[in-house]
Amino acid sequence: MATATDLPAILGGNKSISLCQDEALRWPLIDTADEDAVLGVLRSGDISIHPVVQELEDAYKERTGRNYALTHNNGTSAILAGLHAIGVQPYDEVIVPSATWWSSVMPVLHCGGVPVFAELEPDCLGLDPEDVERKITDKTKAIVIVHLFGLPSKIDELVRIAKKYNLKILEDASHAHGAVYKGKPIGSFGDVSVFSMQGNKLCPSGEGGILLCDSEEMYESAIRLGHYERLLGLESKNKYFAATGFGFKFRMAPMSAALALSQLNRMDERNAQRNENCRVVSEKLEALGFDTFIPENDITRVYFEFLVRYNEANIGLPIGDLVKALQAEGARVEAPRYPLLHQQPVFTHHVWSKIARLPATPENPIHVYDESDLPLTTLGNGTLLKLPAFPSANKELLAQYALAFEKVLSHADDLPRTT
Ligand SMILES: Cc1ncc(COP(=O)(O)O)c(C=O)c1O
Repeated sequence: MATATDLPAILGGNKSISLCQDEALRWPLIDTADEDAVLGVLRSGDISIHPVVQELEDAYKERTGRNYALTHNNGTSAILAGLHAIGVQPYDEVIVPSATWWSSVMPVLHCGGVPVFAELEPDCLGLDPEDVERKITDKTKAIVIVHLFGLPSKIDELVRIAKKYNLKILEDASHAHGAVYKGKPIGSFGDVSVFSMQGNKLCPSGEGGILLCDSEEMYESAIRLGHYERLLGLESKNKYFAATGFGFKFRMAPMSAALALSQLNRMDERNAQRNENCRVVSEKLEALGFDTFIPENDITRVYFEFLVRYNEANIGLPIGDLVKALQAEGARVEAPRYPLLHQQPVFTHHVWSKIARLPATPENPIHVYDESDLPLTTLGNGTLLKLPAFPSANKELLAQYALAFEKVLSHADDLPRTT
């Protein structure tokens, strides 16, 4: 049996991971229940408007305890609708994280809003509440909270700040279907909350998203923006806009909704499987000096993705070389996930203000970012290592991953440095 003292594969030893990983890591998991659900819609012929969409909305309302749910053709359009519903106007500032997928931020521009990046905090990889408070001005309208990789942000602190300064919260829960924060489901904390149901999310639909809120006004505002077909059914004056809507068409395809609803039936069980598998690997990695982002007891995270923090200073092997050595062992690991948004050309040049159609004025000078801004975010993001989230892995595969790490780290001093 292979042991940690064996030669690492990068130095000519045998690979730690010999088992086939394709099935163990496959996602999404599609079975006959999913096929039947999608075929049911297809065979009905009602492939554009179908009651399954409302069933999906009802299921999410129930899970999150929200008054209103509105499905969208993707999470990005749901975020745009959410910012619109919150009332983001030209020159309003919206505090956002930089380490996230662009969809948490770019829609701000299409409301004419000004994204203001705040630092990431190292414990839950969400917005740092202290930096958020520092970045608040009299133009701040909202905060976008992202539960990165399925790890709930510091919600209590962020909600307290939002209340103190009368700010709205858009909760981007795209990575965190099924997570729970102090007894309350993720998706219940924003004035508007959004889940993406894109194909690799925990409730995959192919393409899809859902917006949740408690305010009828916000709900109708989102309907006006992207769901003209629902306007006629409203009691309010919004029904008079039924012939035009407000210019977007965001409704979700029913075959995607059918898939999401079918996936939702098994989501908790599948989340639990990922959690258990990631817990097993986390225990081993913690013992090797990694921070695996296990939340406090009253918080249940989920594993959209499994990222861990590598302490390069303690181990002395650059993260790039660690990754190469682990990959040589057969581990499907990668260095950091998201290119930081404040370092992208859109924000290091005046492009963002052009997208937002915001000319500079004496009261509103246009700020551009420098790559060196947000040093804590750059540092925190740069030390992350991504592992598979092990959706269907067995104990043997998990043990082989643990061995790969043990072996590589026990030979850290002998490994080639190339980065
Ligand atoms: C954090 C986050 N927010 C929003 C989105 C947007 O979702 P969609 O791809 O469904 O438009 C994603 C998608 O990957 C995401 O990761």
